[in-house]
Order: sequence, then C-alpha cells, then structure tokens
Amino acid sequence: MLQPIDVDRIRKDFPILQRTVRDNRPLVYLDSGATSQKPMAVLDAERAFYETSNAGVHRGAHQLAEEATDAYEGARATIAGFVGAQPAELVFTKNATESLNLAAYAFSNATAKAVHAPDSVDRRFVLSPGDSIVVTQMEHHANLVPWQEACAKTGATLRWIGLTDEGRLDLEALDSVIDETTRVVSVVHQSNILGTINPVQAIMGRAHEVGALGVVDACQSIPHMPVDVHDLGADLVAWSGHKMLGPTGIGLLWGRSEVLQAMPPFVSGGSMIETVFMEHSTYAEPPKRFEAGTPMVAQSVGLAAAVRYLDDLGMDAVAAHEHDLTGYALGQLEELRGVRIIGPRDNVDRGSAVSFVVDGLHPHDVGQFLDDKGVAVRVGHHCAWPTCRRFGVPATTRISPYIYNDRADIDIAMEGIMAAQKFFGV
Ligand code: ALA
Repeated sequence: MLQPIDVDRIRKDFPILQRTVRDNRPLVYLDSGATSQKPMAVLDAERAFYETSNAGVHRGAHQLAEEATDAYEGARATIAGFVGAQPAELVFTKNATESLNLAAYAFSNATAKAVHAPDSVDRRFVLSPGDSIVVTQMEHHANLVPWQEACAKTGATLRWIGLTDEGRLDLEALDSVIDETTRVVSVVHQSNILGTINPVQAIMGRAHEVGALGVVDACQSIPHMPVDVHDLGADLVAWSGHKMLGPTGIGLLWGRSEVLQAMPPFVSGGSMIETVFMEHSTYAEPPKRFEAGTPMVAQSVGLAAAVRYLDDLGMDAVAAHEHDLTGYALGQLEELRGVRIIGPRDNVDRGSAVSFVVDGLHPHDVGQFLDDKGVAVRVGHHCAWPTCRRFGVPATTRISPYIYNDRADIDIAMEGIMAAQKFFGV
C-alpha cells in the first residue's frame, strides 16, 4: 500500500528549509524544477566520503584508492538499480546538458571521423546533408542547442514536433516529421516549462520504425515518478542528479549496451583509454570510455544517498504527492482573476511544474513580489525560449513543488500573486 508523503517529517531532513529569508520569513521553496534541495543524508554521505575514503579511483594500489573505487562503482550500481538499468549501461557526466552533448557529439564526431577513417565509425552516427534530426518545440535549450550544433557541423536539418494550444505535442504530424531521412529523435519526457508528460514510447517507436536512434531527456521525470529506462523505448536517456536531491556536478547518461559500444568518445584523455601510443590510442569499454579524467566521485556517493532517500519514500508515493499538489495548484490558479496557465490545464499526463502569466504584470515583477514574501519561484523563459514564443509570451512564472512542499505552500504563493495584483493595481 502507498505510504503517503509526510511533508512535516521530510522537511526536518533538509537543513536549508529551516532558514528564513527576506525579513525573517519562512522559506517557501517552489523552484525544484531548477534544482532540488538536499537532505542531510546526501550532505553526510559526501562529507563522510571526503573524511574517510577520498582518493583517485581506478588507479593507485593503496587502501583509500580501493575504497574510493568501491564507493564510486557502488554508487553507479545503486543509481542504475533505481532506473532498472545495469551499472555498465550508466555513464556519469557533469550534468544532463553534458549527457545530451555527449549524445549529439557522437554524431558530429563520427561524421568528422568518417572522412579520414571511415572504418573506425558506426555508420548510424554519420550524418549528411539530407538527413534530419527531430526534437520538439518544448525542449529546454540543453536538448535543442546541441542538436542545432550537430546540424551546423554535418549539414543535417533540424525538424521539430510542434505543440497544440493546450501545451501537448501535436502528434498528428508525427509520421511526416519523423521520416526515412531521420537519423536521431531526441525528446523531453516531462517538459520543464509546461509540465506536459509526453508519450515518449510512441515517439521512440516511430524513430525505430525509420531506423533512427532515440534519445529521451528525463531531467524532469526521473526525479518525480517511477521510471524504468527500458520502458521509455529509447536508446539513450539523459538526466541530472541535482534535480533529484543529489549534489550539483553530476549527470547521467543511460544507453543500451550495444549503442554505447558503437558510440565514439566525447571527451578524451586519461581514464577513458585502453592503450596509448604516440601515434594513436584505443579506448576502454563503456561506461569508462565516456568518463575521461578524474570523475565526480563524491558527487556519485551523494547521489546514491539521494536515490536511497527517494527509494525509501517510494517513487509511487512521490508521484502521487506531486499529482495532488499539481491538481491543487492548477485549481487555485484557475480561480485567480487575470491568470493564464501556460501548459496543460488538466491534471492528466502532467507533472508538477506549473507555468502561468498574470495579465498586466511582467513575470519578473511577480517573482520579485513572491520573493518578498519568502516564496522562491523561477521566472523567465526557463531555458525554453522557443516554447515561450509558441505561446506568445516573453516569459512565465513557474512554481515547481517537490516532496517537501504541501498545499499550504501553494496557498502562500497564491496570496502573493493576489497581493502583487493589488499592489500594481491590475
Ligand atoms: N534547469 C532548468 C529549469 O529550471 C532547465 O527548468
């Protein structure tokens, strides 16, 4: 049976939530879409690692090196298990942006290598003019700009799946946008700005039908709902640690073994090699092939602690809690005069990031007013500028609750919006 989320108990685990802001007001943190706060368990795990076992991993013949390597590889196994993956399929990166760049660079690097060393590359990654790359109009910049770059380097064309007025993907055109020219399809699972949860399985299915590789950006879904990477039907899945209670400085790229095996390296140097000669080098098997240099060991240990924390709560319970908060927030916003929700207004296939605009007020003024009340929200284009343009707004205000928020936090945000309307006379 689902154990409901006990917000009061959870809050005690987060030191930052005990502090006050702006004239001693309690902090109401509703900006977890940008980054989540960290429980003591995560802070303790990182500190304990530095205090007891800090050393370079995969090298050194001493006890600390052995313990650090075990901590790093143990963290990989814990995090992989959280998403139903095998440890060897999980690459540690700096953040989700780097994970998506790793995917995009696989194509542009393979295309460049194919000119001089055609036998060294897997043709699935080689792009030419006439080929297409498909994204959606609700990508955040991390899953858009790297693909624009890949097109600029290879002559491929970028295409995208458009949006309906309700903030859903317009899938009527799916079969024409993804066609025989398409070599890679990269789509967001849950939009960071609209909150929409996309039917990625169907989109990945279409990608595979035409022989394209499929990439899913799961930054805003894996922290908030149970996700088994195999169920997404993708070849590669990218997300970050810091949005799921983990430290900054660590991201993840899961890949089907066979796909990772075929991918050229992204960053090269030490730790990712098999043998090195003056003229050339050979590379290690994945995931090491993609982890050049000294990796983020303490961060991986912190992220493993975050995963255990979420596992203890149960991701079904996390999703149910957020579903309740989302429904409540949507309902309360609908009640407010002059407020327009940007994104789905029904609480179906929808996550907890809720964006809105207030008639007559710039989102930055709304954000500043809420900040004065101790409420932290994100304002702006949310690194999804083309999505804002699609809805004819320069920016939005976004609330993005998580496990440490309750309905009272939403109420305080609503009071702040009404107070802003009154103050500015709109
Ligand atoms: N991390 C960015 C956000 O706040 C994209 O949604």
